[in-house]
Amino acid sequence: MESKIKKLLEDVESFNELTAEKVEDFRIKYLGRKGLLTTLFNDFKALPSDEKRKWGKPINELKAKATNKVASLKEKLNSSSDSEKSDQKDWTREGLGVKLGSRHPVNLVKNEIVNIFERIGFNVSEGPEVEDDWHNFTALNFPEEHPARDMQDTFFVERNPDWALRTHTSSVQVRMMESEKPPIRTISPGRVFRNEAISARSHCIFHQIEGLYIDENVSFADLKQTLLYFAQEFFGKDTKIRLRPSYFPFTEPSAEVDVYWGLKNEVDYRMTKGTGWLEVMGCGMVDPSVLDNCGIDSKKYSGYAFGMGVERIAMQRFQISDIRLLFENDQKFLEQFSSAL
Ligand code: PHE
Repeated sequence: MESKIKKLLEDVESFNELTAEKVEDFRIKYLGRKGLLTTLFNDFKALPSDEKRKWGKPINELKAKATNKVASLKEKLNSSSDSEKSDQKDWTREGLGVKLGSRHPVNLVKNEIVNIFERIGFNVSEGPEVEDDWHNFTALNFPEEHPARDMQDTFFVERNPDWALRTHTSSVQVRMMESEKPPIRTISPGRVFRNEAISARSHCIFHQIEGLYIDENVSFADLKQTLLYFAQEFFGKDTKIRLRPSYFPFTEPSAEVDVYWGLKNEVDYRMTKGTGWLEVMGCGMVDPSVLDNCGIDSKKYSGYAFGMGVERIAMQRFQISDIRLLFENDQKFLEQFSSAL
């Protein structure tokens, strides 16, 4: 017994390999379930009791030594592994490549539209997504019983029925008219909310860009020319537009703007419902009472406003058939636009 213990003790003390594999082999050899120490303990159990008294302590000490040895070698391995690894770097290995994200198609289109209007002197204005009744409806001439105020169209805030999620960014235009003096030339991009059933064509959240120009002697001709400039910058040099009479509570007269898209193939027929014309936005001359509501003298100033849905234009531009794709954030879908910048 004595010589066995002594031999093992010497082996344990002299062991000094520093690789993870060797240390693990050592641990199994000594401390494993069928290791040398287990065998030693089994031998020990078979000893007569006076012998047991003599060898119990040395055997336990041997076990403690082996356990400590494994622990300290492992610790050394861990702390040295970083510096060792850096010595073993394979400098010839190919890089892993960084995966770049891409801009969302809604953002691409929004940026392009904003750029086009910035080039002719419009600034960008933003406002809150939770609005009060005044900025979203009342200042804009929506009569008390107007259907757009209805629970079916508007998400109201339960805690305060005067608040709602804005249904258009015209609310930002009201804020601009209240806080700035003419001339005002501003576009207001932002998220808007309408309580509509979600389908391939409509969503309860979408983005708008609305424009506003207020100055002395602003006329409908200015509006038409600005929209033509926009359409030709965005859709192409020879683009034609047409205006159809329409109605909005805050503009008078009001119009719907169509862009000529063409009827070359089946997709064109589907997109334009067989007319060749795409409806892209609403517009009109700001109603004088709206100017007065916002503290602008309607006898001295006039202005025009227009507003378009960004998703709809993005869908036209990228031939996307279902608006829901724009909100799902499926990487495979979004990656397609990485080169569209
Ligand atoms: N605010 C209108 C809408 O949300 C769009 C619009 C803006 C129409 C400005 C005319 C003038 O539908």
